[in-house]
Amino acid sequence: MMLSQTLAVIGFISTSFLTIRFLRSIYLYARPSSIKRYLHGADAWALVTGASDGIGRTFSHELAQNGFNVVLHGRNLTKLGTIKAQLQNQFPNVEFHVLVADASSTSHQQIDELVATLNDIHLTVLINNVGAAIKVAPLEDTTSEEIDAIINTNARFPTQLTKALLSKLTQTSSPNLIMNIGSMGDFCVPYATIYGGSKGFNMTWSSTLAMELKSEGKNVEVLAISLGRVTDVSHNKKKASFFTPSARTMARAALQRVGCGKPVVVGYVGHAVQEFFCRASAV
Ligand SMILES: NC(=O)c1ccc[n+]([C@@H]2O[C@H](COP(=O)([O-])OP(=O)(O)OC[C@H]3O[C@@H](n4cnc5c(N)ncnc54)[C@H](OP(=O)(O)O)[C@@H]3O)[C@@H](O)[C@H]2O)c1
Repeated sequence: MMLSQTLAVIGFISTSFLTIRFLRSIYLYARPSSIKRYLHGADAWALVTGASDGIGRTFSHELAQNGFNVVLHGRNLTKLGTIKAQLQNQFPNVEFHVLVADASSTSHQQIDELVATLNDIHLTVLINNVGAAIKVAPLEDTTSEEIDAIINTNARFPTQLTKALLSKLTQTSSPNLIMNIGSMGDFCVPYATIYGGSKGFNMTWSSTLAMELKSEGKNVEVLAISLGRVTDVSHNKKKASFFTPSARTMARAALQRVGCGKPVVVGYVGHAVQEFFCRASAV
């Protein structure tokens, strides 16, 4: 084959490959959500961790709007009580339940005890949203206590909670969902060593758990959502923009990705654009 013909074939294959990838990306952000498939049984419940503020709070609102009863987890009973009262007022036909546990210090025995209080509810959705605020500082300037608290909150607590709830989520053939909230800080924010590392851990165990459950024939979707900066959260009240969506837009986008078939995905389209350029320029 002539050199020009060989180059033409390579060009055609490369262009086709890139076109397919581009079209698949468009479909990822345009397809309808499958969240309603988890609304089975007489009364389906969702558990949202870190539900007293920010994205977790809006996840709870969106899930209630979709017809789920919601377990609101947080560490501050007063704050959770206020959120519960507001949601109850907006959704009088939905049930809400409060679960208090400090993710930075709750032991796995205490997590088991908390989970036991949920025995009577029909849990179909678990959203591991709780996360410590990002700490951007040299590792040497981070105290040992801060390191433990960040890893505990971002990685240990969601892992132990998921393990404790797994038999409940896998006991029937009806579909259930585990969603883990990550961060693009796991690869592109210098100095966010502990925060990024613990978020990266979540993305990895999501992928491996998804494969494990699939190979065991369990009908559980495990979906990790990576996200960039979000506003209307406890530490950021600036005006929303295309690259910095509000907590409401972010929660909706994450729920929109449910059923996409991937174990790890950038949840919001503006963050996907940022992620593309961050990865392209990564050293
Ligand atoms: N906002 C962003 O720019 C951004 C970017 C990437 C990833 N994320 C991730 O998105 C998730 C939600 O963050 P957010 O921005 O919505 O934060 P947020 O507004 O600060 O809300 C965090 C929620 O988690 C709770 N929480 C924090 N530490 C806790 C602990 N030790 N024990 C129990 N509950 C605790 C908070 O409770 P209190 O109300 O008591 O504080 C609150 O309900 C996190 O996993 C975060 O890492 C956020």
